[in-house]
Order: sequence, then C-alpha cells, then structure tokens
Amino acid sequence: MLLRPRSAPRLNAQEREAMRRACRFNAQLMDEVRKHIRPGITTGQIDKLVYEYTRDHGHTPACLGYRVPDAPPFPKSCCTSVNDVVCHGIPGDYVLKEGDIVNVDLTTIVDGWYGDQSETFLVGEVSDEARRLVQCTFECLWLGIQAIKPGGKVNDIGRAIVRHAHQYGFSVVQEYQGHGIGRRFHQPPDIPHYPRPRNATRIEPGVCFTIEPMINAGDWRTRRDPRDGWTVRTWDGKLSAQFEHTILMTEQGPEVLTLTQHGPQPGHQF
Ligand code: MF3
Ligand code: CO
Ligand code: CO
Repeated sequence: MLLRPRSAPRLNAQEREAMRRACRFNAQLMDEVRKHIRPGITTGQIDKLVYEYTRDHGHTPACLGYRVPDAPPFPKSCCTSVNDVVCHGIPGDYVLKEGDIVNVDLTTIVDGWYGDQSETFLVGEVSDEARRLVQCTFECLWLGIQAIKPGGKVNDIGRAIVRHAHQYGFSVVQEYQGHGIGRRFHQPPDIPHYPRPRNATRIEPGVCFTIEPMINAGDWRTRRDPRDGWTVRTWDGKLSAQFEHTILMTEQGPEVLTLTQHGPQPGHQF
C-alpha cells in the first residue's frame, strides 16, 4: 500500500535530475504539438499525435486512464480545452476553426517521474478579447513564478496572479489549482491561484510543483459536464485560458523545468 505524503517531498540531487529529464521530454512533446495547431485539425488528431510521440519515445501519457473520485477514468492522452472550456476537455471530433483558442495540457511519465505543462494557442486570427485574455493568462503564470522565493509563501503566488488578472478586468478560477508533482501526478502542496486566508504553506528548496492559472473573461465560476464527468466550462459561457509549467524550487530560486525551446518565452507578445 502506497502512503500519500501529507507534506511536499523534497528531492535530492539525483531525484531533481530525474524530474528535469521528465519535464524536458514533456516540453519537447509540446514543441511537437505546437507545429500542428492550425484551423482544420481535430482535437482527436492532437491526442493521437501525443499518444504516438510519447509511445515512440518509450514513455507513458499520464492522462490516459487517470482516475479521480466520482468520474470515469480519463479516456485520452491529453486535455484539449477550447474557448469556454476551462480545463480537462476531452479530445474528440471537434475541428479547430479560425478564431478559436485551445489549451493543450500534456503530462508524461518518464522513468516513473511526471512532467506537466499546458499552453493556450491562438487558432489563426482571433478576437481582441481572446488575445488579451491569452496575453493576461501567460503574464499571470510568469508573475506567479517570479513571486516565489526559496522558503517563500505559496500565497505570494496567488496574490500576484489575482492582482494582474483583475487589472485586466478578468477573473481567476478557484476550483482548480496547481499542485505538487514528482513520482505522483498530484501531491502536496496545493498551489491555489489566489491567496487563501491562514495559508502558511512555504516552498522549500527541493520541492517540485506546478503553477497553472485558469483566467476567465467573465465570471470565475465553472461547471463540470455531467455527461462526460470531466469537461469543465465557464459558468457564463465566456472564454477561459490557461498556461502551466512544472517548477523546481532550488536553493537559488525557481527553476522552470518545462520551458520549451520553441514556445513563448517570458515577455512574449501574442
Ligand atoms: N494536466 C492536468 C493538471 O494540470 C490534469 C489533467 S487530469 C486528466 O493537473 F485526467 F484530465 F488528464
Ligand atoms: Co496539466
Ligand atoms: Co497540473
């Protein structure tokens, strides 16, 4: 019986290297996915590419068959969340069209270690509102990363994200959070994207975690599709965007493990 840790595991030098390798592969997979995002591709074709590329490299897609209480096992190898879908969209027959925004969330298991990241793509030319939302969300992720120091408070991440989202007139999703990650997909600490009262959690060197803000153009509330048990949409049908990185806190500061070679770098303008 595997016991769930109550507090965040702190990785030694070898374990940190293993996480770097897992996240490097995941980032390389994102670089592959990015080449194929254009009007006309289906979300199912994106999933097929993720499945095959992962398998061809001898690794395992973490989403496939992933189980949480009160939902069926996740049926595909990645999440594709289009327009008003906040997260956990299931790839299928949907054909991406000019003006859509789509988040692709990838998680790979490499030698037993998990790398997790997501990126929102603009499909062709999009509305000003969609572009502003994606820009704001990308900035929120990086401000969250820059807000945390070795031994610093988790709440500093959420404070930076909420301030920035509200400056744009957007809202921050509360029901879904970042998380610790390592030999498990989801583990302590919780990383809410808003400051939580009395949350004294700190991030010590050696702790691996994600930051993955979901920012809504309208209301922050969401609802889960009762038919598939997974797809999370905005309450009001307005747009939602997300970006995610896996981060290792080192003695020197946060190290972003899932940074891609070819994707948007900090400061990027969409
Ligand atoms: N990758 C998501 C996260 O960032 C989790 C997806 S779980 C799945 O935590 F089952 F929907 F794939
Ligand atoms: Co993810
Ligand atoms: Co995650």
